Amino acid sequence: MPYAHITGWGMSVPESVLTNDDIAKMVDTSDEWIRERTGIRERRIAKEDQFTSTLAVEAAIKALKVANLAPTELDLIIVTSSSPEYIFPATASLVQDQIGATKAGAFDLSAACSGFIYATNMAAQSIRSGSIKNALVIGSETLSRFTNWKDRGTCILFGDGAGAFVLQASEKPGGVLSAVMRSDGSGADSLTLQGGGSRHPATEETVHEGKHFVQMDGKAVFRFATRVMSSATREALERIGMNLEEVDWIIPHQANYRIIETASKYLKVPLDKFIINVDRYGNTSTASIPIAAVEAVEQGKLKSGNKVVFVGFGAGLAWGALVAQWSGPIPAKKNVYPEQYRIFARLRSLLRRVLRFIEGLLSRREL
Ligand code: UT7
Repeated sequence: MPYAHITGWGMSVPESVLTNDDIAKMVDTSDEWIRERTGIRERRIAKEDQFTSTLAVEAAIKALKVANLAPTELDLIIVTSSSPEYIFPATASLVQDQIGATKAGAFDLSAACSGFIYATNMAAQSIRSGSIKNALVIGSETLSRFTNWKDRGTCILFGDGAGAFVLQASEKPGGVLSAVMRSDGSGADSLTLQGGGSRHPATEETVHEGKHFVQMDGKAVFRFATRVMSSATREALERIGMNLEEVDWIIPHQANYRIIETASKYLKVPLDKFIINVDRYGNTSTASIPIAAVEAVEQGKLKSGNKVVFVGFGAGLAWGALVAQWSGPIPAKKNVYPEQYRIFARLRSLLRRVLRFIEGLLSRREL
């Protein structure tokens, strides 16, 4: 049975920074309150022409470059997002087209902030089953578009960004070792974005009622989060008979510094074993774990061979943890330049659109 190794990683965040002081000009809050209650100092906000697929593609190209893998070699693309570009088509299909992944199947996975753990596990299991060899998993968000900038209970928290992993099959033991995926829909109303779905299709009323914005019972989510972070971590480790002392790093969903601090206490694992960057990006939902992982590699913390636990929670309610042995690129004889495929991808996409247009004209004439 092949192993599923994480061989590439990349991230992309918009340049534009929104500080706590900037938010204090919009709602009744302060830098001090936000820092004390959440640990967040600033977050990134996408420009008008940056979409969920834009950030996803940038992160994906970087991940493919690290893995030294051509987009044409990909078998599967999973995008997970709490702020997808459309209800459909899947953001994953937009990414597939833009990076030129001509052979890849593509779909979106919706599990809110736990999405990256779910998606990485799904990609890993597809590789472990032998049905595919190379997969790309992306968490990408433009949550600022769904943020109510008049609601101080939520607008202080969220940020935009994307992170991506490439997973590849190898006979060498390692990679994704274990995962736990859980859900409790009885808590569905704790954290929602209701507008535009089939229950609340867009009307003037849904707009006035703010149903197209994130709504949250912060305290309920906080309580749930602190509970499941430690239980999911322990369960994922127990499944492979590993104990916490063997873990080099814990990379948690970056929602609130205090939640991470509480998890550290419950697990009796010192905070310096946790990768934390919530101060600079806020809560980027599905993107927060891969962004933290990429920064940990860049800072020389997360190294090949390290044992790492990814753990997340969020709307659903859903939560999960995944244990992996961090790998690195599979040695290859020649260098691949995934960014160059974007030019061909653009040409190919244009050509296919033109062909589809001509096909439409011809079929109309036949009728
Ligand atoms: O990916 C998962 C996404 N969600 C989360 O992880 C959220 C988890 N929850 C949280 O992080 C916290 O519950 C929040 C940061 C959202 C709120 O912190 P809290 O310590 O639970 O505050 P609270 O809601 O209990 O509010 C305490 C007080 C209230 O005032 P009163 O009623 O005590 O007078 C709020 O009105 O703080 C007030 N408050 C604020 N004050 C200044 C709430 N938001 C703000 C604000 N600035 N932004």
